[in-house]
Amino acid sequence: MRAVVYADVRTVEVREVPDATLEAQTDALVRITSTALCGTDLHMYDGRTSAEPGLVLGHEPLGVVQEVGAAVQTVRPGTRVVIPTHLFCGTCVMCARGLSAACLRARAEGPGAAYGYAGMGPYRGAQADLLRVPWADANCVPLPGEPGDAYEDDFVLLADAFVTGWHAAATLAEVEPGDTVAVFGAGTIGLLGAYSALLRGARVVYSVDGVDARLDKAGEVGAVPVDFRRGDPVEQIRADRARAGLPLGEEKLGGGRQGHRRGRVPGT
Ligand SMILES: NC(=O)c1ccc[n+]([C@@H]2O[C@H](COP(=O)([O-])OP(=O)(O)OC[C@H]3O[C@@H](n4cnc5c(N)ncnc54)[C@H](O)[C@@H]3O)[C@@H](O)[C@H]2O)c1
Ligand SMILES: [Zn+2]
Ligand SMILES: [Zn+2]
Repeated sequence: MRAVVYADVRTVEVREVPDATLEAQTDALVRITSTALCGTDLHMYDGRTSAEPGLVLGHEPLGVVQEVGAAVQTVRPGTRVVIPTHLFCGTCVMCARGLSAACLRARAEGPGAAYGYAGMGPYRGAQADLLRVPWADANCVPLPGEPGDAYEDDFVLLADAFVTGWHAAATLAEVEPGDTVAVFGAGTIGLLGAYSALLRGARVVYSVDGVDARLDKAGEVGAVPVDFRRGDPVEQIRADRARAGLPLGEEKLGGGRQGHRRGRVPGT
């Protein structure tokens, strides 16, 4: 099968690699129809991780089940599925509590595992024709429609990007109707975080970045673009909020050093 392989820092190649196959009775083999890139892939691409040459990249798979192991019950060949980035067993104590990104079975060295991801287990990535999906009943989310239909580009966002943006807005920042929110970074995740905040009923969402196309997209989804090239973004937002104050801030930057942070920003 063809796959996108990490070859060296800032070098990836499309290579022929051995086909993915079923390795356990609980596995599914999925033929990938769409697979997205992530800012996380850039951490590997730019050499900020322990990625080894030969790693098949990709953790945002959408496709159609091609084959299932004998123990798989909920999906069949032909089922259209999206597959979450962090693969999990579905039954360990962490999975049972809903903390599946910290699954205790998916990786021998510690909690949590993912496809095509340095330090996250032996699982090959989804930038490939075929993907082996362990614990298929837990990890395959069935979807309606056909590959290539009008929802193809939307459904692929459910593997990682949209759910991460939603998690940031809903769970970490706890955005509620009427809130005023600032999101720093308008990559896919920041934009979907801003969009999620608007879906949650935020009154105003500021979207801070310094890339024209991303600022334009922020405006398209209903956020207020703030261009940090024009001066301190916090001051720009404070000036805009001079009357009402800014009750809540969330952050979602690229670059690897920043994590998810939730915090109250003093109103002006
Ligand atoms: N489940 C998860 O935890 C999860 C999932 C996906 C992505 N991520 C992480 O989220 C981050 C963003 O991902 P992405 O795909 O949107 O990345 P991206 O690289 O496409 O976007 C990052 C954006 O941040 C902007 N930026 C950089 N410094 C800034 C600053 N000081 N102020 C404002 N904007 C700034 C950049 O211009 C860029 O547009 C990455 O670090 C990625 O690893 C986490
Ligand atoms: Zn990702
Ligand atoms: Zn588990």
